[in-house]
Amino acid sequence: MSLLTILEYPDLRLRKRASLISEVNDNLRRTIDDMFETMYAAPGIGLAATQVNIHKRLLVLDVSENKDSPLVFINPEIDVLDPEPLGYEEGCLSVPGYFDLVTRPKKVKVKALDRHGQPLEMEAEGLLAVCLQHEVDHLDGKLFVDYLSILKRQRIKHKLLKDKKKDERGETRAEA
Ligand code: NI
Repeated sequence: MSLLTILEYPDLRLRKRASLISEVNDNLRRTIDDMFETMYAAPGIGLAATQVNIHKRLLVLDVSENKDSPLVFINPEIDVLDPEPLGYEEGCLSVPGYFDLVTRPKKVKVKALDRHGQPLEMEAEGLLAVCLQHEVDHLDGKLFVDYLSILKRQRIKHKLLKDKKKDERGETRAEA
């Protein structure tokens, strides 16, 4: 297994729309394992293939406290079961250091394929519902900062670009 590089906002590759996966094979399962390793190492609770510059409809997540419940979704499709808005303080491995309130439907159903190519269907609420919707957004080129005001988004963008330049010059990165 190997760690993959996570793209960071405002990298335009995060805006690509991922394409459907036509075959679930060993090659794809290797990618899935690499994505889990990358997600756990980050650490994060979800990772979409788009974030590691693989533009296929694939995501992994684990919202359990003990990090022992890995879930894989291939070609995921989400239906809203309860549109009542749920606000959650979201963050993203592609927008490091930022958290903000995003409101999404409270309960969803996801249909996808599992790592063996078998169909799976699951109902989700709470953090799992938030995470699923956040990750499927990535596959459509959308980020949680898109739900924030333009002003906030600009501020985040400038800060991350500044941090990146500092990194390139070899300076230490400010955590604030
Ligand atoms: Ni994210």
